Amino acid sequence: MGNNLLIIDHPLIKRDLTYLRDKNTPSSTFRNILRRLTSLMAFEVTKDLELLSREVETPLEVTQGHVLRDEIVLVPILRAGLGMVDAFLDLIPEARVGHIGLYRDEETLKPVDYYFKFPKNLDKSIIIILDPMLATGGSICAAVSYLKERGASRIKVVSLIAAPEGITKLTTEHPDVQIYVAVLDRQLNHKGFILPGLGDAGDRIFGTE
Ligand code: PRP
Repeated sequence: MGNNLLIIDHPLIKRDLTYLRDKNTPSSTFRNILRRLTSLMAFEVTKDLELLSREVETPLEVTQGHVLRDEIVLVPILRAGLGMVDAFLDLIPEARVGHIGLYRDEETLKPVDYYFKFPKNLDKSIIIILDPMLATGGSICAAVSYLKERGASRIKVVSLIAAPEGITKLTTEHPDVQIYVAVLDRQLNHKGFILPGLGDAGDRIFGTE
């Protein structure tokens, strides 16, 4: 599938995915587990961030410390991506947050956009797109194209569950984007749902099934 896909393999992630897949997991638990699982992924996603040196005065003497070199912009795709934002903000409180509103037309499976709001200087920032599901890849590809049109060039995508069809589309259309997933599932069904998957993440987070 190419070098720009990283499947983050960790026992705690595998355990948490099992809770998320379980159809009997209620929304309140689903939200908490999604946040915890995203934190586990965030550690890996942020591993290559560059640092700048900064002096820090301890109670005893002055020594060298560090700050993040680049501005970070988190971009959740509404709605389901919202469930991943707080986990990243816990770790990178200085990050700014842009929003992309997209939903997938149930007939055509094509993304329909309805909301965009971004901080300035996307061209100088590292962009981290958040969406738990990468199914056909239409939504995330549209989000990446939109961000590139506005100057973004350093883009990471973080998704919990991906289908091979979506990964192929994303890596073909945007080979420069680094993709992180917790698991690559088997396939899409005729309605574009990931199998075995976890159902509709947005509905399960917000209790709108
Ligand atoms: C789901 C999911 C992704 C998209 C994935 O959102 O959260 O955004 O579908 O499908 P794709 O890869 O085929 O584009 P949905 O359209 O259900 O909207 P929601 O988050 O508002 O529930």
